[in-house]
Amino acid sequence: MSDRPLLNRSLRGFGSTIFAEMSALAVKTGAINLGQGFPDTDGPESVREAAVKALRDGRGNQYPPGPGVPELRTAITEHQQRFYGLTFDPDTEVLVTAGATEAIAASMLALLEPGDEVIAFEPFYDSYAASIAMAGATRVPLTLRAPDFRPDLDALRDAITPRTRLLLLNSPHNPTGMVLTRDEVTAIAALAVEHDLLVVTDEVYEHVVFDGEHVPLISLPGMRDRTVSISSSGKTFSFTGWKVGWVTASASLVAAVRTAKQYLTYVSAGPFQYAVAEALRLPGSYFAGFRDDLRGKRDLLSDGLAAAGFEVHRPQGTYFVTTDITPLGEKDGPAFCLGLPERCGVVAVPNAVFYDDPDAGRTLVRFAFCKRHDVLEEAASRLRRLAG
Ligand SMILES: Cc1ncc(COP(=O)(O)O)c(C=O)c1O
Repeated sequence: MSDRPLLNRSLRGFGSTIFAEMSALAVKTGAINLGQGFPDTDGPESVREAAVKALRDGRGNQYPPGPGVPELRTAITEHQQRFYGLTFDPDTEVLVTAGATEAIAASMLALLEPGDEVIAFEPFYDSYAASIAMAGATRVPLTLRAPDFRPDLDALRDAITPRTRLLLLNSPHNPTGMVLTRDEVTAIAALAVEHDLLVVTDEVYEHVVFDGEHVPLISLPGMRDRTVSISSSGKTFSFTGWKVGWVTASASLVAAVRTAKQYLTYVSAGPFQYAVAEALRLPGSYFAGFRDDLRGKRDLLSDGLAAAGFEVHRPQGTYFVTTDITPLGEKDGPAFCLGLPERCGVVAVPNAVFYDDPDAGRTLVRFAFCKRHDVLEEAASRLRRLAG
């Protein structure tokens, strides 16, 4: 074998994701896993049964259509109309993907040229950096800073250069829990129009907003034809393993993203697509109940973390709470998280791994609260050991 590295240069340095590492640590130590953001309870029984029925009825067991099954594409357009008053053509303006992750990767591969710059909020969801790198583009971080993690819109303006092609935005934001306000979304949209930028929005937590409202950027003036709006069923319906996501955008943007997507997976999750179509049509009470349940869990875990001595940045949205470990006399999030399972039987994730500049998040640690009440209560009581 030659000395040439096996891994393509664009992926060097990415290694395995922090979630795999921390979940393995949870299994090894038997600790409560508040690291990875997956619920420990499945979503609605009727939706699960719809998947079983589709499978038994032979719907989706063979390759579904490339853009997604018509039932799901129609349900996605109905959802966008119901919640945001947005109209999309199910035949040309919707694309079903293998989760939001594939939608993000396909968007980067389709829309970027080597050398283009992409501005994204830092801390980043971990697939962003890899997707931008695989497209040969350069990421430019816009750092969200404690205590409230609001984006600095002057810094955003300053970060835009002639090479900027795209803004990759996430609101509600993982891991900080920040939710963009209507004013912020309006200001960002104006900058995108002024500088003729494309925008890709990751809205997977659109239904997990406790304070404020979710405002899709694509709904703002001038944004309909320059925004790729991405969401997913995983978070909203607690079926993260099904990996059914989608894109809504103009026909030309959908066509571009579909071109990349068709050579990544072509299609996926046939029977689950039918089930997600039913899920998207659940009554408003489902969505409100899901959010309110998570609000209670947010408060339970946030209060527990505060009692254990953490500084708690209570999130406006998502199912993560970011804490600062400085009041515990700790300085290094990664080291703290590696020791936490042994110290008190809980796994968390160090926010530093989501930054290009790890020092910017050195003392921040993220906990997921999409877990059963009793699990969160037990985690809170274990964490109290840190208070001594
Ligand atoms: C911000 C964000 N985007 C995308 C994803 C992945 O979504 P999916 O499972 O639909 O690929 C996650 C999952 O944690 C996330 O937090």
